[in-house]
Amino acid sequence: MATLLAIETSCDETAVAIVKNCHVCSSVVSSQILIHQCYGGVVPEVASRQHLETINPAIAQALSEAKLGWGEINAIAATCAPGLVGALLVGTTAGKTLAMVHGKPFLGVHHLEGHIYATYLTEPTLEPPFLSLLVSGGHTSLIHVKKCGDYQTLGETRDDAAGEAFDKVARLLQLGYPGGPIIDKLAQEGNTKAFTLPEGRISLAEGGFHPYDTSFSGLKTAVLRLVQQLEAKDTPLPVTDIAASFQNTVAQALTKRAIACALDYGLETIAVGGGVAANSALRSHLTAAASKHNLRVIFPPLKFCTDNAAMIGCAAAEHFEQGHTSPMSLGVHSRLSLNKVMELYEL
Ligand code: KG4
Ligand code: ZN
Repeated sequence: MATLLAIETSCDETAVAIVKNCHVCSSVVSSQILIHQCYGGVVPEVASRQHLETINPAIAQALSEAKLGWGEINAIAATCAPGLVGALLVGTTAGKTLAMVHGKPFLGVHHLEGHIYATYLTEPTLEPPFLSLLVSGGHTSLIHVKKCGDYQTLGETRDDAAGEAFDKVARLLQLGYPGGPIIDKLAQEGNTKAFTLPEGRISLAEGGFHPYDTSFSGLKTAVLRLVQQLEAKDTPLPVTDIAASFQNTVAQALTKRAIACALDYGLETIAVGGGVAANSALRSHLTAAASKHNLRVIFPPLKFCTDNAAMIGCAAAEHFEQGHTSPMSLGVHSRLSLNKVMELYEL
């Protein structure tokens, strides 16, 4: 069993974890949320500078919490795509430097592959093929996971990602950032049927609708119009009801597409990943629908839904087991399609 030290710095969390295959020995996540909150979103330059300050203490803390020394680490991994270039550079430079100093192999990891592999922290014996529902701040995709490194995107968002929709709706309700957890909490007190909102469907040229793609920008605009109408009446805004109705609409749209896709492709397991996998409505809708269709659904443990390094360690462990390592010349990429993952490795 290989032990890996993994680093994640693609956005606004400086995260370091040590994983022994899919067992987490330590996981440190230093969030920059409070720093970016006043801007209403992540400021790339501020994020890079903060990663620089936090990375070395986070590495030291991960080693100390795992009670391990460099001699017991078999390889070092770091997220190298996609994400903010300056932020990615801090993590990959730290990872490569440590790999050179301590004479260890280095693996660059695709951030989305990390979110796919986060489900292995719940179910370490999961075997492909399965369907991954990847729902984060930047992505909303249905991915056919054929084997480690072999992914086919079957559906995706045509505009906003699910997490982005939560963040934008929270901003227009003046609730703060990131919006997902705040809306989730407020929705507990609200009525999901208070307002009927559009699910957002993609029309096909030949008629009908795309069965797996999503669109959340119309839903966001519908919430904006609703807020404007309610404000014009000069009564207090029913924020909990709006939150519950919006969240329910997103959960239903994602559930419907994931179930249809799994059934059409004969995939018996749906593995959910990304920050929105923490959403309580998505968890309950998808679990209920999956059991109705005899499908299995796996969510990562709550704390490993949002960005962390344990999931990067899990994906890297799988590649390391297959003999994949990255060259020290590996660069970082702000965008990289999942079907180019194998370009990160020398075989
Ligand atoms: O995966 P993640 O940490 O970062 C990206 O790779 O994007 O996801 C962050 C996103 C944010 O948009 C946040 O609002 C959303 O996940 N999120 C949630 C919840 N917790 C985080 N959305 C809905 N419900 C939640 N409980
Ligand atoms: Zn992420």
